[in-house]
Amino acid sequence: MPTTRYPWSAPRDIAPSEITPRAVWMRRRELLQAAAAAGLAIAAPRGSAQPADARKLPAKSGPYSTMEKPTPYKLITEYVNFYEFGTEKDDPPKYAPKLLRTRPWTVQVDGAVKKPRAFDIEELLKLAPLEDRVYRLRCVEAWSAVVPWVGYPLAELIKRVEPTGNAKFVEFTTLADPKQMPGLRSPVIDWPYTEGLRLDEAMHPLTLLTFGLYGEVLPNQNGAPVRIVVPWKYGFKSAKSIVRIRFVEKQPLNSWQKSAPHEYGFYSNVNPTRDHPRWSQATERRLGEDGLFTKRRPTLMFNGYAEQVASLYAGMDLQKFY
Ligand code: MTE
Repeated sequence: MPTTRYPWSAPRDIAPSEITPRAVWMRRRELLQAAAAAGLAIAAPRGSAQPADARKLPAKSGPYSTMEKPTPYKLITEYVNFYEFGTEKDDPPKYAPKLLRTRPWTVQVDGAVKKPRAFDIEELLKLAPLEDRVYRLRCVEAWSAVVPWVGYPLAELIKRVEPTGNAKFVEFTTLADPKQMPGLRSPVIDWPYTEGLRLDEAMHPLTLLTFGLYGEVLPNQNGAPVRIVVPWKYGFKSAKSIVRIRFVEKQPLNSWQKSAPHEYGFYSNVNPTRDHPRWSQATERRLGEDGLFTKRRPTLMFNGYAEQVASLYAGMDLQKFY
C-alpha cells in the first residue's frame, strides 16, 4: 500500500494438487474432532505440557462461515502483507518464521476499562471456546481470499475487562521490535502499526480474536500469536501480532490514515461504490483464480456481510466516512 508502489503483483503459480478443497479440509477437521472426542489425543506423553501436535488448535464449528471454497493454505501463507517483515508479498513468509518470537507473549489490555490487565497468550487462548470460521478477506489492493480462521469473538475479551462509559473506541497496537522485524528499517509506516475500531464494531460478533487458520496455530507471517479479523472491512484493519488493546474516548489515528489520509479513512468498510483514489474497488481478483480468462469478481458491499453489519452505519454518509 505505499503510495510509491503499484498495489499488487502476480501471486505464484500453484499446482492443482496443492489446492485443498473445503470438503477435504472439513473432513480432516471432523476426523480430528472425532479422534479428540474418542480420547485418542492421549498420544502425548504423560505429564507433557505439549499436545501430540502443538500446531493443532481444536475448535468447534462457529457461525457466519461462508460456504465458498477456502483459498489454498499455500497462497494464504505465501502471499502476505506484513510490512514489519518487508513490503514484498514474499518477504513475511521468508523472514517471519525465523525471526518472530511468539512465546512468551503478553497482550496489555487497558485504558477506559474497570479491570485493566495483561493477558499471557496461553491464558488468552483459553479465555473462550475456539471456533472455526471461514471468512472472506478483501484487501484494499483489490485481491481477496477465503480463510478458515480459528478464534473467538473479541467481545469475549472485552466483556471481561469491563469498558467504562468513556470507552468509545478500541486501539490495537502491534509488535514493533527492530531485532525481530527487518521491515522496521523502512519508514513506510510510523511504527508501531496501529489500528482502531469503534466500540460497537469491536463488540460485533463477527469480529474475531484470531489464533489460527486451517485448524492450526497462525503461521508467524499471518500475525502470530494473536491478531484480529474484521471481515467486512479492508484487510489492513485486521492488525497482526497484537501487543496492546487500549480503550479510548477519541477516535484513534491509525497507521495508514496517518501516512495517506486522502487514501485511507478510519472506517475502511469494503465499499465497491467508493473507489480508492488510485484504483477501482468495484471488482476483485480472488487469489488462486489467475487463469488468463478468469473474470474478476464483483466486490460486495461490506464484503458480503451487509446483513450483519449495515445497521452499524445507519444514517452515515459512507462516501464521507470511508
Ligand atoms: N498487521 C500488521 N501488524 N502489519 C501489516 O503490515 N497488513 C494488513 C493486515 N494486518 C498488516 C497487518 C493488510 S494490508 C492485510 S491485507 C492483512 O493484514 C493481510 O492478512 P493475511 O496476510 O493474513 O491475509
